[in-house]
Amino acid sequence: MKVPLADLHAQYLTIKPEIDAAIQRVIDRSQFILGKAVSDFEQAFADAHQVKHCVAVGSGTDALHLALWALGVGEGDMVVTTPFTFIATVEAISLTGARPIFADIDERTYTMDPGCIDDLLSKSKGVKAILPVHLYGQAAEMNEIKKIALRYGLAIVEDACQAHLAGYDGKCVGHFGTAACFSFYPGKNLGAYGEAGAIITNDDALATKMRRLRDHGQVEKYKHEFWGHNYRMDGIQGAVLGVKLKYLRQWTDRRREIARRYHEYLRDVGDLTLPYEDPKSYHVYHLFVVRTKRRDVLQKYLADKEIGTSIAYPIPLHFQQAYRHLGYKKGDFPVSETVALECLSLPIYAEMSDEQVEFVAAAIRSFFHD
Ligand SMILES: Cc1ncc(COP(=O)(O)O)c(C=O)c1O
Repeated sequence: MKVPLADLHAQYLTIKPEIDAAIQRVIDRSQFILGKAVSDFEQAFADAHQVKHCVAVGSGTDALHLALWALGVGEGDMVVTTPFTFIATVEAISLTGARPIFADIDERTYTMDPGCIDDLLSKSKGVKAILPVHLYGQAAEMNEIKKIALRYGLAIVEDACQAHLAGYDGKCVGHFGTAACFSFYPGKNLGAYGEAGAIITNDDALATKMRRLRDHGQVEKYKHEFWGHNYRMDGIQGAVLGVKLKYLRQWTDRRREIARRYHEYLRDVGDLTLPYEDPKSYHVYHLFVVRTKRRDVLQKYLADKEIGTSIAYPIPLHFQQAYRHLGYKKGDFPVSETVALECLSLPIYAEMSDEQVEFVAAAIRSFFHD
């Protein structure tokens, strides 16, 4: 048996007629940029998260940059985020001209540790926003982060690029910050057939500003209120996402069921740490990430058995050449540094069979017991 890390083709086969027809409709209408397929998707995605607005853009990176830009973050400002995320989170801050500053992650959830944010803010001047990342599909501790943001008068932009439909304390992501940003990179829980992203918000003025900024600051054809960028979503991506969104709840339930099975089969195996699910959190398991001090050997062992795994993320951002200028050093973010050495993502996707889950779990058990 082979088990890939994810299987996009298997998913396509389950909805092929609908996807093919939706793409054909875009071609028939020849609305290749924005258009009806995108606006219908925006409405459906906003409804799925119970918010007023969704602004569809070209990628998750665009979404993060656009949200910060529209909020007025720029030169001379600082934005707090974590060094244990995909680089795009931090690039979005850099693109505005602001400076990223890091707070370490919590040892159990791997999301930003509110205690570290508080500590950082008590020492830093010029911070404009907090950018928590709902990593691996689990929301950050948003009640605490919100309290801190209120105390310091800061905006919150949620990086929900890995957390479609995730929740915290009974509320969906997107209800904690001024805006929440999503990626529809093909391998995400809701993935396009190319690059795509979106921002959701309940703020009317912010939504209008982001719609204009994504389209060169246009208010009407060739009338530009301010300069912006081209961050528009393609019609074909809107059409694909519109079809796939109808299945997202069911696919998320299946991911959660696979996670439950992994938890059952892998309890008390070697030094393996399984993902911690915060009782307040509705985890959507974009990734199922385990930890072990023998990570690299385990990864090789599983690869030999044709089981796909990956490491998200092997190098915390303060160790990246690209962010060396921030001046951080080894030991500044001990939790991020340790998790980066030990984390391993196991296969998880809605089309994965129970037999495949058992096969992966049996291989891991045999690795630790041999
Ligand atoms: C946490 C996080 N932030 C931002 C992004 C950027 O999204 P995109 O690749 O769509 O630009 C991603 C996607 O990989 C992500 O996982």
